[in-house]
Amino acid sequence: MFDKSVYIERRSQLKKLVGGGLIYFPGNVDAAMNYGANTYKFRQDSSFLYYFGLDSQNLAAVIDVDADEDIIFGDDRTLDDVVWMGVEDKLADRAALVGVTLTEPYNNLKEKISSAKSKNQKVHFLPHYRGKTTIETSELLEITPAEVNKNTSLDLIKAVIKQRSIKTAEEVAEIEKAVNISFVMNTMAMKLSKPGLIEREVSGAVEGIALSMSEGVSFPIIFSVHGETLHNHQHNNVMKDGDLLILDSGAESGLHYGSDITRTFPVNGKFSPLQKDLYNIVLKANTEAIKMIKPGVKFKDIHLHAAKVITEGLIEKGFMKGDADAAVKAGAHALFFPHGLGHMMGLDVHDMEGLGENYVGYDDETKRSEQFGLAYLRLGKELETGHVVTVEPGMYFIPQLIDNWKSENKHAEFINYDKLEEMKTFGGIRIEDDILVTNNGFKLIGIPIPKTVEEVEKYCNE
Ligand code: GLY
Ligand code: MN
Repeated sequence: MFDKSVYIERRSQLKKLVGGGLIYFPGNVDAAMNYGANTYKFRQDSSFLYYFGLDSQNLAAVIDVDADEDIIFGDDRTLDDVVWMGVEDKLADRAALVGVTLTEPYNNLKEKISSAKSKNQKVHFLPHYRGKTTIETSELLEITPAEVNKNTSLDLIKAVIKQRSIKTAEEVAEIEKAVNISFVMNTMAMKLSKPGLIEREVSGAVEGIALSMSEGVSFPIIFSVHGETLHNHQHNNVMKDGDLLILDSGAESGLHYGSDITRTFPVNGKFSPLQKDLYNIVLKANTEAIKMIKPGVKFKDIHLHAAKVITEGLIEKGFMKGDADAAVKAGAHALFFPHGLGHMMGLDVHDMEGLGENYVGYDDETKRSEQFGLAYLRLGKELETGHVVTVEPGMYFIPQLIDNWKSENKHAEFINYDKLEEMKTFGGIRIEDDILVTNNGFKLIGIPIPKTVEEVEKYCNE
């Protein structure tokens, strides 16, 4: 974990931002996979990690803003626990590592919350995303589970987003460790992939790298010759000569900061002329978008620039037609680029998405669009120094979407539908990097991962 001063300072800032009341942070518990004792890999709640650093099950924390007290609730391991799971340092000693001097048995949490309620002290908590925690909070607050997420604290949500959005040097260093693991994951996938293999033979090895080098993947690996399916978690296809592969994956650092990198490469190690041309259009969108990154620029404008680059490229290749600006304004490019350019990244790979995407990515000046494609943009607002974002333009030929739009003659003034029939087996291309917003521009985080056609082909043929 970080030095305890980091956690003390974060909690002190939070108290100032929230102003009063009692802030309740439930930690995560184990989640059953198919029966209670057979659990998914444990993942602590990211906000709990941010303010309290302790990476284990069955903890909760309370910040009593009015009394200026931070308390961690939890129990030391029993002898039975030790027999099955081994020894763990006493909670009081672990709490001291994050600058918390008050610890109490877990069962005292109920009394703490009840006494706050009886004093009319506001109990702040964040949106819940796990059933077990929701039920427990409903019991603590004596409300129904359905009421839990209706009673979250907007003051707390905004305060947490304000703090977690700006990454400090030690946080960026963690993200960098994760990206450097991504370097190994991606280059190994390029080297391993070849015609005749099943996708999982490579995706399994890629996941193994994340596990062997750190805490595993930051989200389920997307790896497919059907890159036109944006989040394709099936890995059962046989790789064929001439296919393109998309690998969208990330690792978690020891402190659970994530990376999120996408590369696209040819199964047979050599891009066809058409694949190369379309790849270079997406690459241009990626590199030009990255170069636009600096404080004060709206990420939505960067997204729209990437969309224009892709549209211009598609016009040049004859798949689109007309004026690129007008096509982007109308949303016609979304047939090929239906998702957002990127999102914030940190302790969550889509950072803080569980707190509310619109609070994280939008504000009073920048509202989310309802247009197909642009509506999926998770981050639209002005960038600030310390933001960490992904830049991930893509180009896809999605047969069902093409058929649907064609049947409605949608945006027919901008799209050459006849030329798209032969593209329905093309798949997709996405190129994603992780970028820090600096005082006067941007910094690519981590070891640069092969990206140009030449670099990618070189690794594919090693
Ligand atoms: N890496 C998957 C995504 O950003 O949605
Ligand atoms: Mn991403």
